[in-house]
Amino acid sequence: MINALRGMKDTIGEDAEVYSYFIDTCTKIAKNYGFELIETPILEETALFKRSVGESSDIVGKEMYQFIDKGDNDVCLRPEGTAGVVRAFIQQKMDKAGGIRRFFYHGPMFRYERPQKGRLRQFHQFGVETFGESSVKEDATLVLMLKEMFEALGIGSKLQINSLGCPSCMPQYREKLVHFLNTKEGLCEDCQRRKQTNPIRVLDCKNEYCQKLLEDAPLLKDNLCSTCRDDFEELKRILETFGVSYEVTPKLVRGLDYYSKTAFEFVSDEIGAQSAIAGGGRYDRLVEFLDGKPTFGVGFAMGIERLSELVKMPQKSREGFYMGALCEEAMDSISRLVFDRRKSDKTFTIYEPKSLKSHLKNADKLYVKFCVCIGEDELRDGNIWIKNLESKEERLVKIEDFKGV
Ligand code: HAM
Repeated sequence: MINALRGMKDTIGEDAEVYSYFIDTCTKIAKNYGFELIETPILEETALFKRSVGESSDIVGKEMYQFIDKGDNDVCLRPEGTAGVVRAFIQQKMDKAGGIRRFFYHGPMFRYERPQKGRLRQFHQFGVETFGESSVKEDATLVLMLKEMFEALGIGSKLQINSLGCPSCMPQYREKLVHFLNTKEGLCEDCQRRKQTNPIRVLDCKNEYCQKLLEDAPLLKDNLCSTCRDDFEELKRILETFGVSYEVTPKLVRGLDYYSKTAFEFVSDEIGAQSAIAGGGRYDRLVEFLDGKPTFGVGFAMGIERLSELVKMPQKSREGFYMGALCEEAMDSISRLVFDRRKSDKTFTIYEPKSLKSHLKNADKLYVKFCVCIGEDELRDGNIWIKNLESKEERLVKIEDFKGV
């Protein structure tokens, strides 16, 4: 028997219902905020992720599904959505057109990580990206939108925020940090490497000994330039105005290299060790890094599998029709009714005559509201038999009056 690959799973039954409820709910909210759908390919040139997510990130360094295709191209299954959206934005010349564009997307992402609860190799994200808006009010709006999505889905969460600085304050901070790190012995192998490639990534190392060494490390929030500091204060002010509680997490740096200024994560303490349910931030230099015209960018993505565990589905109600023939002669009439009814309602049928008991059992299993049957008597009298499975009421209706039911 062939099974799905390790860290990959089928979405089916109840999981599929939660999945589509999740997508529908978030899509509606994203559209209300002025976001439009974008679909980008799952396979992209490897260089796209190396240049955006960054060579020093774990994603590019260790986790990419990368291969050479039959045309000798170095390609990769997308590990995240932002890079592809930015590539499309530039390729469609939207950077040159200027103005503000807002996109949302959802679909599978691939990271060759060690699978565990909440950590898959193929997982799904719902994400949004805004281009061309420099105001920190947009960052705040994205956080508020995300919060609204969580509320609509019945999900509780905690918000962590930080500012990662900009090209005018980051280099000095980096120098200060490297100087500090050079005074410390015993950083883990990953941190030794990060110290050279992207020192701020050392700050969120999960290794306990590294964290101990970092206790008195200089912090980003104390080294911001006045613009970054003002923006961060404004972000906090807006969140407070809207009653969104948050925690400033000075060592939150995010695992992707493209961020500057705002960085945020939503975590849940109900789903175990893999507690990050959404993350995002500003990436004002990414469009330029990928050869586009400099354009501001900010966005977030949430992990659908992690969130699915927390979604509170609305009470399920009986919905639609089940229609069945009680004799061979009634099959055509039932088929016609089914085809007509499917134009307006969810309608099930079965392609062979069955007893009333058996049809009622099927209808109940499918959790429909109405069970409709036609047998010899109904055919003769031009009737259909219909039972409302909610109220249990049964009646005969003239076939020409059935449209109104
Ligand atoms: P990220 O933090 O790498 O950000 O991923 C976003 C979310 O995807 C995480 O918070 C988590 O819920 C989920 N996730 C990540 N890896 C896995 C996994 N192996 N298994 C299950 N769920 C996972 C990004 O991907 C950025 N592109 C977000 C962004 C958009 N920033 C700006 N715009």
